[in-house]
Amino acid sequence: MIDIFLISSSAERAPQIVARLQQSGVAYRLRSARGTARQLRTHARAIRSADLLIVEDSELNARDLDGVEEVLACTPALHCMLVTAEPSTALLGAALRVGVRHVFAWPFDADEIALALAQIEVRKNPPGRRAGRVVSLASSKGGSGTTLIAVNLAYSLATLNNRRVLLIDLSQQFADASLLMADRPPPTTLADLCSQIDRLDAELFESCVMRVHANLDVLAGAGDPLKAAELQPAQLERILALVRERYDAVLIDVGQSLNPLTILALDRSDMICMVVRQSPLYLHGGRRMLDIFRELGYPASKVRVVVNQYDKSAPINLPTLEQTLGARVAHQLPRDDQQASEALSRGVPLVTSAHDSILAQGISLLADMLWPAFAGSRKGVFGRLFATQTTLPPRLKPGH
Ligand SMILES: Nc1ncnc2c1ncn2[C@@H]1O[C@H](COP(=O)(O)OP(=O)(O)O)[C@@H](O)[C@H]1O
Ligand SMILES: [Mg+2]
Repeated sequence: MIDIFLISSSAERAPQIVARLQQSGVAYRLRSARGTARQLRTHARAIRSADLLIVEDSELNARDLDGVEEVLACTPALHCMLVTAEPSTALLGAALRVGVRHVFAWPFDADEIALALAQIEVRKNPPGRRAGRVVSLASSKGGSGTTLIAVNLAYSLATLNNRRVLLIDLSQQFADASLLMADRPPPTTLADLCSQIDRLDAELFESCVMRVHANLDVLAGAGDPLKAAELQPAQLERILALVRERYDAVLIDVGQSLNPLTILALDRSDMICMVVRQSPLYLHGGRRMLDIFRELGYPASKVRVVVNQYDKSAPINLPTLEQTLGARVAHQLPRDDQQASEALSRGVPLVTSAHDSILAQGISLLADMLWPAFAGSRKGVFGRLFATQTTLPPRLKPGH
């Protein structure tokens, strides 16, 4: 099923385009509006949730493509088709430059559009394509760094690995993930989406997420523990089924609570990253949490223990920690107060603001561990270094 948004300047041609869509034999859902390429901005929200934008504009010329360029830049997975009377060479060149792959002269034949739709459908649902990989981040106690790590993993995957990423803030207290990513409050939250769950579809979902980067959306937390307590596991189940199809990576900031809602998230996760610190309180809770994971039937391979703010000279060293937890430590992240607080005060994730810091690099390596299929696809200097297997350690070794 592909989602199509059609904007057409002509009351006469619009139904003829729809007839050709129907003849194509490809399953689609259509929303349409009357207008020209210059009026695309008015429909930005609906276009964001589509797979294909068809712009039929008989007067279209190269200068009218600003709006098209804007929507394609904000929605990299969107395909765009232009339909116009007689496309000039200048228009064809400009269309290619802004990322449009299909420009049809009106009247086009039904086979041309059928072929284009079939290609878009295959790209959307390639045979054997894995659904988006879901990873939850949990900890037994506040202040472990779960949110900082979740936010920076999300940015790392979206910007350095160029994946479509969703971060769901399921923490039950005051839901702060969006604060670390944007300088504006989230317009809607997970609680708003759950309250309208009976009409959940791509459009409603798009209207409830906050886009913080071209590839990265955030579904903000309920923001208040009372509202969070009303969320139902069945509602989250439906949301997860939808988002798995729409994103390459889904991160859930589970926070510290274990309850039916967060347990549903953990059940549905491909992997759980449990964050601990080297203090008796974190270890006590961490041990209990791992016991509960075992009781829930999760195999040890589903859980990765990460030590945050790792201090090689702390009295609780790695062997003690592993012995107490009864689990191997998969990764350590160093303490970096300066970069953590600078990133927080600037509202910029530190994988961006301090991308060459050891903490940022450690988070990118953690992303490779949690989403191994994306490892090696990282952009930029660090990605190239990693891709050519230089001396960067896969994790900070004990004692470093
Ligand atoms: N590796 C780190 N180095 C320095 N400060 C950190 C690090 N990880 C987290 N912090 C800081 O610790 C505090 C708690 O982090 P947060 O992500 O909110 O924890 P949680 O979500 O587990 O409650 C924040 O001020 C954050 O900036
Ligand atoms: Mg948190």
